[in-house]
Amino acid sequence: HSNEAMQMIEAHNLLRKFYHHLLVNTKEGQHALEYLLERGFTSESIGKFQIGYALDSWDFDFKFLTNKNFQPALMEKAGLIIKREQDGSYFDRFRDRIMFPIFDRNGETIAFSGRSLGAHKPKYLNSPETAIFNKSKILYNYHLARPTMRKLQQAILFEGFADVIAADRSGVENGIATMGTSLTEEHVSILKKNIQTVTLCYDSDSAGIEAAFRAGNMLHNANLQVNVAIMPDGMDPDEYVKTYGEEKFRNDIIHSSMTLMSFKMLYYRKGKNLQNEGDRLLYIEKVLQEVSRLDKAVEKDLYIRQLADEFNLSLEALKEQERQYYSKSS
Ligand code: CTP
Ligand code: MN
Ligand code: MN
Ligand code: MN
Ligand code: MN
Repeated sequence: HSNEAMQMIEAHNLLRKFYHHLLVNTKEGQHALEYLLERGFTSESIGKFQIGYALDSWDFDFKFLTNKNFQPALMEKAGLIIKREQDGSYFDRFRDRIMFPIFDRNGETIAFSGRSLGAHKPKYLNSPETAIFNKSKILYNYHLARPTMRKLQQAILFEGFADVIAADRSGVENGIATMGTSLTEEHVSILKKNIQTVTLCYDSDSAGIEAAFRAGNMLHNANLQVNVAIMPDGMDPDEYVKTYGEEKFRNDIIHSSMTLMSFKMLYYRKGKNLQNEGDRLLYIEKVLQEVSRLDKAVEKDLYIRQLADEFNLSLEALKEQERQYYSKSS
């Protein structure tokens, strides 16, 4: 790290400790702490993930940092304060927000995401891209999850911070998340270096399902084994844990995940009436196209047999059509 980068990291580490102190020990942070506890966050999680609170002030961080002799221009580069156009004065980026520190793989704080407590938009405010923070390479909780990921050769990929933390509280310690962005090739290659299997556990709303589809294909193309875990009623994992409990989350969601292919079959069924001939043909076509992208003959055989059984079709016809898609795509 350059000297500037080291100072940026030091400022983040100091602020992270102070935000955490404000949340857990002060009257100013009390409403934020109550909000988190009400949502099901435990004191243990709050400590482990070093969650904090940024005061409802325009210059608290600015004063805190300048008192510690950090140069304002550098703190602006670090994304912690923002310069006013009019007079060149500075104000704090994060105000009256729950602060989730973002750690690099060595456990240094390199960014924050601040969740608004009420209706203030955006819901999550992230640090900008800086010399020390590149969103497309960072996986939330990677530094803590990595040993378990490697041991189990598996990671659970979530959409959000709250999901990773709810999973961790449930004993699922290999959870990670991207930061409000889609999965990138950089993320995939980090995963590829550590594990064989990724279980996608995105929100079960339409945005989450679409995103799981895309992420699933990217991971599959990198030759990772992909499973998908889905929740009922459009829930997200943190809502599920709060509603149904930790044990049910582990058993009925994480340990009951399906293969990417089964997830796709479920997805293509949505909104179709398979009693209807046209819908049925469309569905079979979609599935055969997906089968043609599988690499293992045994896998292909498994799904083709499922189709044959379900719709009372000949294996021959299904295989014939699958081969046509296969030769088209290759
Ligand atoms: N996100 C973001 N900016 C927003 C909304 C979301 O960066 N305005 C990112 C956050 O990393 C968030 C993730 O996208 O964790 C998933 O979004 P969403 O499902 O809407 O949020 P939740 O994680 O469910 O947040 P919460 O439970 O706190 O409402
Ligand atoms: Mn979502
Ligand atoms: Mn969500
Ligand atoms: Mn949520
Ligand atoms: Mn493949």
